[in-house]
Amino acid sequence: MDSVDNFLGILHEAHRENARSAYFAKRPFARPPRNQNRSTMPMTSFVYEFFIYNSIYQYDWEKSCATGKLTPWLRESSGESGLREDEQQDNLEAFIKERCKETPAILLRAFEPLSELTELGDDWTKVVADARITQQDGQDFFRRLSEFADRIRKSQEQEGAELARGRIFKLIYNCRFFVYKVRNNIFHGSKSLDETSEPNQRRRIEVYDLFLKCLVSLFFLAMKKEPVASDEFQFPIHLRIGDQERIDVDQGGVIELLGPRRGLGLKPEDTRLIQRLKRLGIEERGSEITERSTLFYPSAGTDVILPTLLGLPFCSQFYFYNNGSDFGESRRTDTARAIRSKLKKLVGDRIIGDPTFREDEFVFQFAFGGHDRAIHCVCRDNLDFLNQDVDLTFFFHRGDSPGECGCGQYWDSELLGQLVRKVPPNAECQVLTDGEPGGVHSGLLPDLKQLHFSVTERGRDYYYGRFSGDALGSRLA
Ligand SMILES: C[S@@+](CC[C@H](N)C(=O)[O-])C[C@H]1O[C@@H](n2cnc3c(N)ncnc32)[C@H](O)[C@@H]1O
Repeated sequence: MDSVDNFLGILHEAHRENARSAYFAKRPFARPPRNQNRSTMPMTSFVYEFFIYNSIYQYDWEKSCATGKLTPWLRESSGESGLREDEQQDNLEAFIKERCKETPAILLRAFEPLSELTELGDDWTKVVADARITQQDGQDFFRRLSEFADRIRKSQEQEGAELARGRIFKLIYNCRFFVYKVRNNIFHGSKSLDETSEPNQRRRIEVYDLFLKCLVSLFFLAMKKEPVASDEFQFPIHLRIGDQERIDVDQGGVIELLGPRRGLGLKPEDTRLIQRLKRLGIEERGSEITERSTLFYPSAGTDVILPTLLGLPFCSQFYFYNNGSDFGESRRTDTARAIRSKLKKLVGDRIIGDPTFREDEFVFQFAFGGHDRAIHCVCRDNLDFLNQDVDLTFFFHRGDSPGECGCGQYWDSELLGQLVRKVPPNAECQVLTDGEPGGVHSGLLPDLKQLHFSVTERGRDYYYGRFSGDALGSRLA
């Protein structure tokens, strides 16, 4: 069994590493700016994943597991009993399907990222026809993928209801067949690097790459190897901010924005969260921003990237409270430098200079979307926020706890009444919270949608929605 286990271990590590890597190309002899690092995402990641997939489907896993000896299929070239590559792929799916009978939940976990895909009927999905692929092939692929995504969402909504295995494997078969044709195009050189960086083409390859990573993840889950790429996959960020602005960060950029566990940067679930919030219409909900419109995040640690991004359509002031050492005098210069470098990746050169240091707070100022913005990193107790003369338009709260280094204050329930008073009359406040500590007040729950992800940094669900200050105020009174 050793050789099977070793081989699986090596491939599994490569599969995980691929999902966490950003790839670049450098042309050292070209003139600036062409000599700069150029992202080759998602193409390199896709090709690399295909090598892994290829290394998997060339073996008879049924036999390899039974005998403990890696047993390759006879290849087509070796005579009549040999198998074509697509037949080897069929056999791999038959093997996985059988294993899914024992643990059906792995099907949902492996393909869960598909449920976050949006706009699958839009213009960018139109493929450029060539000798191997017709426009109809492309249309069929995206139609099937859309059905696949719907089925996953339905299963999520019915809390773990099983996916219909027969239909799902039919969809897997058809989608995989198309992705294999794309792979042939790439491997036979029909697509140059420049062609694959055309925005729509790149977006399509992101989807092929995601599908393939989900399929390979399913194999590893079937072999009881975890975590898998589906748990760690990062979507690029494409977010419309009001009518005028947008933020676009490709997958390479997203991977650079990821933070260490519980550290500064995006959390593993953040790009999925963005996709989910887009489906819930967060881009449509921009409101009139004034110089008083404010985001508040108690016990923020150094978690400033996602709230800043999501708050841009709603807020000009961003208040992050953290009374620990990161914002304290001894560490604040380092923290500020690190925050600035990540924020620059998000809003580019619009971060104006260095932050201003005040007694127990430092502030970044920048202009975005026609508004002056300020990010306040405040080293005081969260409760101090209640004394700020501002209009609350976004309440963001996650990762907090009743003890350890958490605040033990119940912002989503006991203190909610005081927060609601900071929302101006007739105005709305966005909420994104995980409800800890203390849970979400029953008066607020009807305004929120609970969002579940199979993997999050703290294993918690999120709640997202918006409330009107007046309506919630009278409900809580
Ligand atoms: C568990 S960390 C959470 C960090 C962040 N929310 C995240 O998800 O990455 C809690 C943070 O809250 C800060 N904190 C705890 N009690 C606080 C209080 N009463 N006022 C302000 N910050 C507090 C701690 O210093 C720590 O940085």
